[in-house]
Amino acid sequence: MIKNEIINLIKDRGARIGVIGLGYVGLPLATEFAGKRFKAIGFEVDENKAAQINAGRSYIGDVASEVIKTSVDAGRLRATTNFDDLKDCDAIVICVPTPLRKTKEPDVSFILAAAEEIKKRLRRGQLVILESTTYPGTTDEVLLPMLEGTGLKLDEDFLLAFSPERVDPGNPDFQTHNIPKVVGGVTDDSTEAASCLYSQIVNQVHSVSSARVAEAAKLLENTFRAVNIGMANEMARLCYALNIDTWEVIRAAATKPFGFMAFYPGPGIGGHCIPLDPHYLSWKARQHGFDSRFIGLAEEVNSRMPDHVVQLVSDGLNDDRKAMNGARVLLLGVAYKRDIDDVRESPALSIIDRLRSKGCEVSYHDPFERELHFDETHTESSGAPLCSVELNNEQIETSDCIVIVTNHSQIDYRRVVELGRLIVDTRNALNGDLRRESSARIIRL
Ligand SMILES: NC(=O)c1ccc[n+]([C@@H]2O[C@H](COP(=O)([O-])OP(=O)(O)OC[C@H]3O[C@@H](n4cnc5c(N)ncnc54)[C@H](O)[C@@H]3O)[C@@H](O)[C@H]2O)c1
Repeated sequence: MIKNEIINLIKDRGARIGVIGLGYVGLPLATEFAGKRFKAIGFEVDENKAAQINAGRSYIGDVASEVIKTSVDAGRLRATTNFDDLKDCDAIVICVPTPLRKTKEPDVSFILAAAEEIKKRLRRGQLVILESTTYPGTTDEVLLPMLEGTGLKLDEDFLLAFSPERVDPGNPDFQTHNIPKVVGGVTDDSTEAASCLYSQIVNQVHSVSSARVAEAAKLLENTFRAVNIGMANEMARLCYALNIDTWEVIRAAATKPFGFMAFYPGPGIGGHCIPLDPHYLSWKARQHGFDSRFIGLAEEVNSRMPDHVVQLVSDGLNDDRKAMNGARVLLLGVAYKRDIDDVRESPALSIIDRLRSKGCEVSYHDPFERELHFDETHTESSGAPLCSVELNNEQIETSDCIVIVTNHSQIDYRRVVELGRLIVDTRNALNGDLRRESSARIIRL
């Protein structure tokens, strides 16, 4: 049986693992396999990334260059742009992006491109796993027909599964090995082989009955976050209107030892997952005539947060008898979350664009992002990139308003409250002591 052949290869570490797409998800995964004595080959379309890996250099914060170098030097890890090497792999894991089209519909073209490369070289004895987040049905409705189009048969010749990635960039407590992995095969044999593969590198594997369940589980996880963040954001706006401290309210509610889970408001949602994934679910629901109202509502509330932040800046300046037009506004942090260098979908981009549309002179400081590029949706900002400024005394003192958009831990908040005049804190970065000692006016979300 093909399943047993693959499982035996995995168990004796003879299986060669191909990872397609060496980004935030694929690079840690390939590194983990190499660290557990498998031969891992990373497949990239970006020549520069492949060259960096082969030179032992990491470009992802959570993966240390020394770890890459050790595996590359030991011959257990290499990267290539030549997809012919897929023939040599016994297990192939797809970790390519799954963005949205402008219409907010799923764009699975990267998955299709990767699958096309596999299809051209598919051979008997291969296990193919999709990790990219996608709508339920992608693995068995889209990938399976492509792979069976070669004439090879599922279970007889190859196996196919879905296993969602849950990596949390910048979180030192949870890395690939200690995040439980959900695995769902298109067939039982596929589930078993894929579970066996992941159990070599992950402490806990949770097998489910189908690829669709695994696909839906991932979307539930991220939709749950989007909806609850939406609730926290609505609460923040409501508390602002009622002049109640949102953060104190959440802290108090969180003392309940059951039936409550704290979520926090913020300037808007960012990253590759939370703003995008729920759309994959609602799109698929629409195909079946189902309207997912929670998803739509959460998106509406979350996407209004940049406007609310701009309103707080405007309110603060107004109290100082200042106009937005011509005001110097300094953003602290532009990454979508604390202590990482990722600005994909970051609300900072929308906030800057909206501030500029009101005539503000905007600058930013972010220790992780030297340059900020805008796309054509940011009508006031497209063109030249903005560069991070040094956070010196003069910069703080001459800003009419400082907006904490991302609460990076290395920012000297004490100096900011000592020298700043007006601070909008969207992340509760300034604790009670700092707020008490501050001579600045502080407006919190
Ligand atoms: N970043 C996260 O925190 C995270 C967490 C969980 C799940 N995911 C999901 O994992 C998937 C990958 O996300 P990511 O953050 O790693 O993306 P990424 O953009 O960081 O990396 C994707 C990589 O794939 C490469 N690529 C694109 N097309 C390719 C192709 N045809 N062949 C080979 N390489 C190709 C790109 O050059 C890039 O290096 C997405 O579906 C995402 O939703 C991401």
